[in-house]
Amino acid sequence: MNNKPLAIIILAAGQGTRMKSNRPKVMHELAGRPMINWLLETCESFGPEKIVVVTGPDMPGLEAAIKPHTGVVQKVRDGTGGAVKCAISALKGFTGDVLILLGDTPLLTVETMQTLIQTKTENKASLSLLGCIMENSYGYGRLILNEKDELQEIVEEKDADEEQKQIRLVNTGAFCADGARLESWLEKIDNNNAQNEFYITQLPAIIAAEGGKTAVAITKDAAEIHGCNTRADLAALEKTLQSRLRTRHMNEGVSMQDPDTVYLWHDTQIAPGCTLEPNIYFGPNVSIAENVTIRAFSHIEETTIGSGVAVGPFARLRGGAKLAQDVKIGNFVEIKNAELAHGVKANHLAYLGDAAIGENTNIGAGTITCNYNGFEKNKTMIGKNVFVGSNAALVAPVTIENDAIIAAGSTVTENVPADALAIARAATEIRKGWAAKYRKIKEAAKRKKAS
Ligand code: UD1
Ligand code: CA
Repeated sequence: MNNKPLAIIILAAGQGTRMKSNRPKVMHELAGRPMINWLLETCESFGPEKIVVVTGPDMPGLEAAIKPHTGVVQKVRDGTGGAVKCAISALKGFTGDVLILLGDTPLLTVETMQTLIQTKTENKASLSLLGCIMENSYGYGRLILNEKDELQEIVEEKDADEEQKQIRLVNTGAFCADGARLESWLEKIDNNNAQNEFYITQLPAIIAAEGGKTAVAITKDAAEIHGCNTRADLAALEKTLQSRLRTRHMNEGVSMQDPDTVYLWHDTQIAPGCTLEPNIYFGPNVSIAENVTIRAFSHIEETTIGSGVAVGPFARLRGGAKLAQDVKIGNFVEIKNAELAHGVKANHLAYLGDAAIGENTNIGAGTITCNYNGFEKNKTMIGKNVFVGSNAALVAPVTIENDAIIAAGSTVTENVPADALAIARAATEIRKGWAAKYRKIKEAAKRKKAS
């Protein structure tokens, strides 16, 4: 490991025009969390002396997201070199190594960053940079090496000639620089290029002109260093991150029948021994205890699930659903802001919203808690061991006490006492022989028409 003190600069002031968004680029989310926070988390694991994030003017969301780290505003976005110049003001007197990272390249791993720092130390270089050999190098700065394979300069896409454009070795944007000399090099950067910007990528040429050395660390992992410039890039990063998250869960004892079809949120918690069938979406704030089975095509967010529960297929759990141990939720059941106690079953086609349901209660197919009257939400309270027959509409606010039975097809608008039967539907009327007579008349009419 590197023994020198470390500071980290993250460039995040760019407008991200190619994203066509009114959000700062680095505030776009991966697994539900701004990309800048993924990068910051990795940086924090180094325990650096300081992390400085360069932001743009009018980016209040970003300023809040980077706390407690130092934010420096780059008033005029005049390029990546200009951005590092701004950051340097927050690192006065710092003489250790300075890791310079791009906010739009958030998936760099700790190991890769370590390699970059070590490459500088081991080669006694003034600067090290992370390069990558890419099949498609479009849009990236190309690394120009001399006959001795030493880095001479970096040429940006817009400044490259046809021959240079063929180069596959690119700049990932991650540098590690000698903090004592960084400021003096930055002063030498000019903006004589196609975009009239101050490019940080001028550093190797400036250092070479002084007779100094830039060492190149090369990674093969193009997915890890993928920069986010467009929405398609964002999707590519999401894919990489999702795959990492799934691997992490599987390593912790979660089975996935078809991992590629499971979408996770950054904070999804799943205990060991759980099984996920294919095609499951997890939104924010889901916590699942051990030995739970989530069956295919379920959509789950803001939900707590106890051990031994079975959910789905085709279940939707959201907004404060709390399922205690051994609850069973079947197909086409939606649960919102409802607590289901131990052993509750809702196996088919139901909506349970703003409700509390006691132990071992059975909710029949088609049961609806009518929780909304067009103005406010009301609660449905159901006791233990209640049997709610199929297709019951429970009009809230309403309470059904322990051991009661609700007849199928009932619309319940009054509280039901313990052990009672509530039946609220038209009585069945039987007309003997009616169907046979009806058929006879109809068939005779049909014959007459045909003759
Ligand atoms: C940059 C590199 C390129 C490299 C690529 C890797 C330069 C000139 N080019 O190109 O060599 O291959 O990244 O992904 O460095 N930013 C600021 N202030 C500015 C301009 C940019 O903070 O004035 C920030 C942006 O927010 C972004 C990062 O710097 O996070 C990179 O800027 P971007 O414009 O995306 O650079 P690329 O064209 O991708
Ligand atoms: Ca970029």
